[in-house]
Amino acid sequence: MSGFQTNSRVIKWIEYRMPVFSFLNHSIGAGYPAPKNLSYMWNFGSLAGFTLVIMIVTGILLAMQYTAHVDYAFDSVERIMRDVNFGWLLRYIHMNGASFFFIVVYIHMFRGLYYGSYKAPRELLWILGVVILLLMMMTAFMGYVLPWGQMSFWGAKVITNLFSAVPIFGEGIVTWLWGGFTVDNPTLNRFYALHYLMPFVIVAVVVLHIWALHQFGSNNPLGIDPKGPQDKIPFHPYYTAKDSFGMGVFLIVFAAVIFYLPNYMGHPDNYIPADPLATPAHIVPEWYFLPFYAILRAIPDKLLGVIAMFGSIAVLFVLPWLDRSPVKSGRFRPIFRIFFVLLAIDVVVLGFVGANPPEGAWLITGQIATFWYFLHFLVVLPLLGVFERPKPLPTSISEPVLKGGGSLAGAPAKPMEKA
Ligand code: HEM
Repeated sequence: MSGFQTNSRVIKWIEYRMPVFSFLNHSIGAGYPAPKNLSYMWNFGSLAGFTLVIMIVTGILLAMQYTAHVDYAFDSVERIMRDVNFGWLLRYIHMNGASFFFIVVYIHMFRGLYYGSYKAPRELLWILGVVILLLMMMTAFMGYVLPWGQMSFWGAKVITNLFSAVPIFGEGIVTWLWGGFTVDNPTLNRFYALHYLMPFVIVAVVVLHIWALHQFGSNNPLGIDPKGPQDKIPFHPYYTAKDSFGMGVFLIVFAAVIFYLPNYMGHPDNYIPADPLATPAHIVPEWYFLPFYAILRAIPDKLLGVIAMFGSIAVLFVLPWLDRSPVKSGRFRPIFRIFFVLLAIDVVVLGFVGANPPEGAWLITGQIATFWYFLHFLVVLPLLGVFERPKPLPTSISEPVLKGGGSLAGAPAKPMEKA
């Protein structure tokens, strides 16, 4: 909205040579108009960025004390916990930070799913998001191997072994990934190198993600385009304040877990040093992988299981073309809403299935939930796009806001006149 202006001579000096301040003003400042009806669900993008920074800063500090060697890795982490000043805090922040990062990003994604933020013209923005998710998963998987506990070792073994299901080249790929004939020192070393590198690749893709976002601006809870300046407010101070408040709430919850429940989300077996000769009774990944792990194990055939697991993410890449409904927001799509809730329940069920051995009722439940997951994206969404009758859309963002509610539903016909 407003152009960038300053009285500071220093800022003017820099700005003349490199217009970094007007760039910031247009990206996150008063010069970036955003829809005026963004709810707290729109806090999670900035929160994800905030968490990413926390992970990188704590990760670099941990790296200064960590030793990537099979004989020292476990002990070096124990030393960080016991002897390094505030090492326990750094590690607990990084360890739980990974979980919080996934919580934030999963909410961010479900927000996008509900409000149709993946639809035209934001398809590329969504696709870049799915790329980020894949990179996050690879980073988290490799990071979990570094403490070289029992779950680190056996988790790495199970997941890398999945590639052996690839016909003809399978064994070769696995040996190549391991850098030897089993998960060993070369594996740990390369995982460390990549675990350090990937967060910076994520930063680069996040920059592209934000770039794509700024092309058309944010979607909003009504899913209709802002009609003019009356439907927008400057990002700063309105959303910088709202985002800062969100970060405060996030930090309170985050701190509560770090200080009171730091090992709640982890597996106790990872406090046992890795032993290639003793397989744990149940090998389970971190909670954020459980739904995907359930899909992998729902199918008795190894190769098909691997294909289904990767397929569950691949389907997200083509989502913008599967859901052809012209209405974005779930608020105006009564049947979609029901299926959205069912999908959320389905993913939680998959999570529980992933945490349990694939036998008996768990196996059947996992198979039904896997079937439902794909049915939702491949059949339900395309059909809803054709057959669902959406509710009437408001003519502008200001209309329902002026009527005294975020949604048309339930708002009195003409509240201004009543007053
Ligand atoms: C490191 C991870 C990520 C960061 C830092 C990030 C950052 C952001 C930010 C700052 C925004 C604008 C604020 C907001 O709408 O909440 C945004 C919007 C968006 N992000 Fe992400 N994001 C990440 C991951 C993802 C993932 C995994 C997806 C989906 C697979 C995704 C999809 C979207 C979409 C569709 C929007 C537009 C939302 C709208 O305007 O309604 N993002 N992201």
